[in-house]
Amino acid sequence: MTKNEMDLLFKQAAQIKKETKAGKYRSDLVGKTLVMIFEKPSLRTRLSFEIGMTQFGGYAVYLAPADIGLGLRESISDTAKVASRMGDCLMARVFSHQTICELAVSSLVPVINGLSDWEHPCQILADLYTIWEIKKELTGLKLTFIGDGENNVCHSLCLAAALWGMKLCVAAPKGYMMKREIITHAKSLVHKTHGQIEETTNPYKAVIGADIVYTDTWVSMGDEGEKEKRTKVFQPYQVDQNLMQLAKPDALFMHDLPAYRGHEVTSEVIDGPQSVVFQQAENRLHVQKALLLRLLMQSH
Ligand code: CP
Ligand code: NVA
Repeated sequence: MTKNEMDLLFKQAAQIKKETKAGKYRSDLVGKTLVMIFEKPSLRTRLSFEIGMTQFGGYAVYLAPADIGLGLRESISDTAKVASRMGDCLMARVFSHQTICELAVSSLVPVINGLSDWEHPCQILADLYTIWEIKKELTGLKLTFIGDGENNVCHSLCLAAALWGMKLCVAAPKGYMMKREIITHAKSLVHKTHGQIEETTNPYKAVIGADIVYTDTWVSMGDEGEKEKRTKVFQPYQVDQNLMQLAKPDALFMHDLPAYRGHEVTSEVIDGPQSVVFQQAENRLHVQKALLLRLLMQSH
């Protein structure tokens, strides 16, 4: 997406958020079906896509990990060919990003990334929308991510922040910094947008002057085998009140959820006055509805 496309999407999401209760959009996607393929568990992603389709008068088919055995029972490409001849749009949550790419190559309809090991773009659309909703701007704001720099959420945040000319600072332990491909891509974007991308191992330095402090689990889905090691390595990266106090007084605390209280964040912070995590979670619904409308209205 370009910055302008995202800007339009946010404006549409704001309208959808305001007008849905008044009964608008009830029949915008009547007869349309979203096919949702999940290789991993989900609360927010499934709910927001499924409820979003229902509110538009459409339908969402949920395929659980064991239902189709993606890539095992038949090839990913054959799955995409079949699903896209029946559904109007596909959404997939997968282990390997390669799977999303393979689905997209063979699909006749749009494919939405509902999280891969590499990126979590729908989450970040909702996150930036939430910041925009509260702060009324994005460009120039300092967003500090603390924790696992090489995970999907941090990667997508980095690319979107670069697109908007935000100042992104990532504090992560050595060995858990963002992947070089992401940094290279983001740096090519900040050239034009005058944003900044910084990396440090020092969380205290990273939060100084931050408008937003963001963290995510230390153990992403697929990383469970390293749980013990990660829990030790990331200990100094817990977002607690001491760390939050170094950010701007009106800084927001954000987390994509699910959160592991007492690990990446203390209860005091996530349940505290600066936390906007549930507004963020709710906005998944509104922003993805705008995305669905855009993809499904265009394709017909
Ligand atoms: N944030 C998010 O994607 O949540 P789920 O894993 O519950 O979908
Ligand atoms: N980084 C986390 C995000 C969960 C929504 C994971 O991949 O498990």
